[in-house]
Amino acid sequence: MKITFLGGGNMATALIGGMLERGFLPADIQVVELGSEACAVLEGRFSVRAVAAFDEAALDCDVVVLAVKPQQMKLALVPLAGRLDGQLVISIAAGLRLADLGRWLGGQGRPYTRLVRCMPNTPALIGAGVTGLYADPSVDSAGREDAERILSAVGSTVWAETEAQMDAVTAISGSGPAYVFHFIEALEAAGQRLGFDEVAARRLAIDTVLGAAKLAAGSADAPAVLRQKVTSKGGTTEAALAHLAGAGWHDVLVAAVGAAEARGRELGELLGKD
Ligand SMILES: NC(=O)c1ccc[n+]([C@@H]2O[C@H](COP(=O)([O-])OP(=O)(O)OC[C@H]3O[C@@H](n4cnc5c(N)ncnc54)[C@H](OP(=O)(O)O)[C@@H]3O)[C@@H](O)[C@H]2O)c1
Repeated sequence: MKITFLGGGNMATALIGGMLERGFLPADIQVVELGSEACAVLEGRFSVRAVAAFDEAALDCDVVVLAVKPQQMKLALVPLAGRLDGQLVISIAAGLRLADLGRWLGGQGRPYTRLVRCMPNTPALIGAGVTGLYADPSVDSAGREDAERILSAVGSTVWAETEAQMDAVTAISGSGPAYVFHFIEALEAAGQRLGFDEVAARRLAIDTVLGAAKLAAGSADAPAVLRQKVTSKGGTTEAALAHLAGAGWHDVLVAAVGAAEARGRELGELLGKD
């Protein structure tokens, strides 16, 4: 599978690094990137071909991965409009909808439809991300497998059944790391309030989240069951959880994710405006 990236920034670099580790060949990967310094870094680090604009060689590929910022996308697609010939196009740009991408990529009034939209999250930069994917119905199973293979290079993958669910993916796993950082901050503050210095309080907070997440990921039990297992009657955990329940913590988090999803929908409208 020959792949050309449009944009060679943080996320493209993470994807290329992960793909090469998983057996993709440098000779099969190209990058179209405006910055000459960034091109030199990509060529030096990964031995892939990096050029400033789409030429015949860059177009001679099976997959194009759109990896520029959402605000840069419309302009970045101008040189590609009407020039694609059946390549699978995978967008990793947050919020941009398939209809808008298809319109910008199409030629002579005909939208391009062989499109997959993905939403990786920031831990993808260290190979520990989770990516939501949605494919246009015209994309066959081979195309979906190709998209999954590429995004699997930076973490796990989950398919959305409708494009609207991509705003939910953004709200859950896209913004999710910030919720977890906020949780870590609060646990760290509690540690400092109880007498630990910043370093020790942070260690206790981060390693608790890391360990609990690993436990949950490797367990056949649902998180609710794991929670019940560590909550003895009349114990310390029960005291803390009763306090959280009294403060409506669960509902607050669910409502917060709802607010993120609503904002994602608004931003999608704005980004797709012509
Ligand atoms: N980083 C994350 O954690 C994350 C998470 C989820 C999704 N994403 C998505 O991933 C995409 C890329 O994000 P990123 O963090 O990798 O951004 P980034 O580091 O800014 O990379 C984008 C690269 O594309 C280049 N570029 C801009 N316009 C171009 C054009 N017309 N032709 C060729 N190259 C062009 C930029 O050059 P200049 O710097 O010179 O503009 C930059 O090097 C975004 O759409 C974002 O929504 C990122």
